[in-house]
Amino acid sequence: MAGSCVIVALDFPDADTARAFVKRVNPSLCRLKVGMELFTSAGPDLVSQLVSSGFDVFLDLKYHDIPTTVARACTQAAGLGVWMINVHTLGGGHMLAAAREAIDHSTHRPLLVGVTLLTSHGDDDLAEIGLERGLEKQVERLAGIAREAHLDGVVCSPQEASRLRQRFGKKFVLVTPGVRQSADVRDDQRRTLTPAEAVADGADYLVIGRPVTRAPDPVAVLYTIHREIQSI
Ligand code: C5P
Repeated sequence: MAGSCVIVALDFPDADTARAFVKRVNPSLCRLKVGMELFTSAGPDLVSQLVSSGFDVFLDLKYHDIPTTVARACTQAAGLGVWMINVHTLGGGHMLAAAREAIDHSTHRPLLVGVTLLTSHGDDDLAEIGLERGLEKQVERLAGIAREAHLDGVVCSPQEASRLRQRFGKKFVLVTPGVRQSADVRDDQRRTLTPAEAVADGADYLVIGRPVTRAPDPVAVLYTIHREIQSI
């Protein structure tokens, strides 16, 4: 299981709860994602500690601001030694290019991926904010902007993975949240597939949060997910 394709979302309220979970897993079983809840509460110190314990850490702060601000935030994130960071593709090509340049000038160069549309979004959400072209077309367009700006890949729904894989080729990294086993509750995720389906459709990394972190035995769930993926 070296270099696990499963990234567990550490969506916990504080560092102690996150550390208690991390004690139960190891870097060959999963990578770890620190998002806005935990980062806001625990800050960069926890991120550095997770990196020092040998985990690949995805810092999921979805930067979306003017190009200079995003570039400077990316430089700081890279300095934490994380494995992957993300920016929001809705920030547009200039912002993405500034992020790319910042990472290229960093001593440590994490993977840089762009969030396309949230996996909790449906067509109705897009219509509400005036994006009328439909989910799939919108995701493809945003992924195209990420590609133009030389990002390493995108965060997308597993339901879009096969189309993006076809269009952007093997080296374009596809990170997919919105992963649920058939029996799992979907929570607020709407565009979901199972882990095996997501990998079969071309996802490189699966972000899985609550189905693992809420389970009485998270390690057992991770083993089941790995077995399911290996069986395809
Ligand atoms: O608990 P669950 O598996 O739904 O967690 C998914 C994680 O992936 C959350 O931390 C969420 O912030 C993140 N995410 C997402 N959709 C995106 C980008 C990130 O669900 N497009």
